[in-house]
Amino acid sequence: MVQESLQADSLAAQQRLPRHVAIIMDGNGRWAKRRSLPRFAGHREGVKAVRRVVEACKSRGIGTLTLFAFSSENWRRPSMEVGLLMDLFVHTLQKEVRRLHRNGVRLRFIGDRSAFDLKLQSLMDDAERQTAANTDLTLVIAANYGGRWDMAQAARRLAQRVEAGELRAGDIDAERLAQETCIADLPEPDLFIRTGGEQRISNYLLWQLAYTELYFTDLLWPDFDDAALEDALRSFAGRQRRFGRTGEQVEQNERA
Ligand code: FPP
Repeated sequence: MVQESLQADSLAAQQRLPRHVAIIMDGNGRWAKRRSLPRFAGHREGVKAVRRVVEACKSRGIGTLTLFAFSSENWRRPSMEVGLLMDLFVHTLQKEVRRLHRNGVRLRFIGDRSAFDLKLQSLMDDAERQTAANTDLTLVIAANYGGRWDMAQAARRLAQRVEAGELRAGDIDAERLAQETCIADLPEPDLFIRTGGEQRISNYLLWQLAYTELYFTDLLWPDFDDAALEDALRSFAGRQRRFGRTGEQVEQNERA
């Protein structure tokens, strides 16, 4: 334990700690199946892993954590599972927001929330309002989110500005498009983690992940804990991020 915290300190000291971690929490269903439990039991256990990883990120000084709670494709699941997931979101928000607020966590939701029922929408709005001034950790929950949707809504907003005469088509570049995507005000993810053994991005933060380090683990989400996060952080700390430059340039820069 002491050794782990020393390692984390030294990662931070070397500036090798990600500022933003984005996670696809996969494997809840399989976790439940292995125990002959209904899939929903896996999602319920997944909430405990969410709590653990929020605390672990906060205690390490990671500024932003983004979690994929429900993709725009997840509506295709059996209606019973979708309904239970919605109930779980409502229940979790009702139960956790006060505690998150006390712990200095700012909550943000990204995705098309108009598809959710009004009760869930209003819980999301209230949670964002209540925690807006917190600064310890920004917890972004992607709900009814898709990376293609994000880019399409960014393009639509720019097109509206062109129609309104505020902008010319020739003014549109990557920088302007980026400004219209979700979480443009936050640093882009440095580290992406996907649990559950699949090695896919699955329409998550497509724009924002352009230079993100990818980390995949076979662990199922309900089993993800502090030690598993530490493994991912250690892998991240050992990587050289070049952003298009050569390794020699990066090393020179680090020495300077
Ligand atoms: C993927 O596992 C998980 C989901 C689609 C839901 C994630 C939801 C939670 C962890 C709980 C709530 C979270 C918050 C932030 C309130 P899967 O069902 O695809 O697992 P499988 O691949 O084993 O079937």
